[in-house]
Amino acid sequence: PEYRLVAYESLDSTNEEAKRLARDEGAGHGTLVWASRQTAGRGRRGRPWASPEGNVYASLILRPGCMPAQAAQLSFATAGALADALQPLLPEAVCRCKWPNDVLLDDRKVAGILLESETDASGTVDWLVVGVGINVQHYPPDAEFPATSLREECARLDEPRAVLVRFAQAFATWYEVWKTEGFERIREGWLETARGVGGPITVRLAHSTLEGVFADLDTDGALLLEMENGERRRITAGDVFFPG
Ligand code: BTN
Repeated sequence: PEYRLVAYESLDSTNEEAKRLARDEGAGHGTLVWASRQTAGRGRRGRPWASPEGNVYASLILRPGCMPAQAAQLSFATAGALADALQPLLPEAVCRCKWPNDVLLDDRKVAGILLESETDASGTVDWLVVGVGINVQHYPPDAEFPATSLREECARLDEPRAVLVRFAQAFATWYEVWKTEGFERIREGWLETARGVGGPITVRLAHSTLEGVFADLDTDGALLLEMENGERRRITAGDVFFPG
């Protein structure tokens, strides 16, 4: 996308602002909403996202002109782009993607992604908002899944804005691959940096918990969990935990 940066000191949530701009003002493909802090940052599944100054909070408006199932694939492109953007800053740590769309540094969460979209009457995605939160200087100490920040892990610390620019550059590459070659290439790229593929995981669903081996990423982005009895379950929503 051709980016247009819209910067704020403070917002309720960059995702909310991006949705307002897309819905009410017809903001175009590539509009990148960035705030130094958020007063009502949100994570997946309605969880709050603590947003003090010093981290990256940004939401990208895309108008990919595709169906919702295709648009959802972009969360994997976003995670891959984040890993590509952050790894060069981290000579000592390994940056990995965690299903469905988190980014880890040495097994602690350093970034999260929140996709929201609206579909028009014909069933095509009118706009998609890709929200990313990157822990640059701060991280929540009491998160349910252990977290970290770039400051905690790396010698060289970039300003939040510079980290955002790195992400935007990496995302442009992944988006182009998605657009021209489709999800299969994104899936392969994501699997290369993914944490835990082929190993045991615990998946927490809304009302139950499953254990098994993370066998593969399905062609639509679902997690394929191989159970002890050999049965394969397709997981489309849940929280993944690793043993040890
Ligand atoms: C998660 O891991 O649960 C997703 C976190 C997404 C946080 C980002 S910060 C920028 C954007 N605005 C929000 O309110 N949330 C996303």
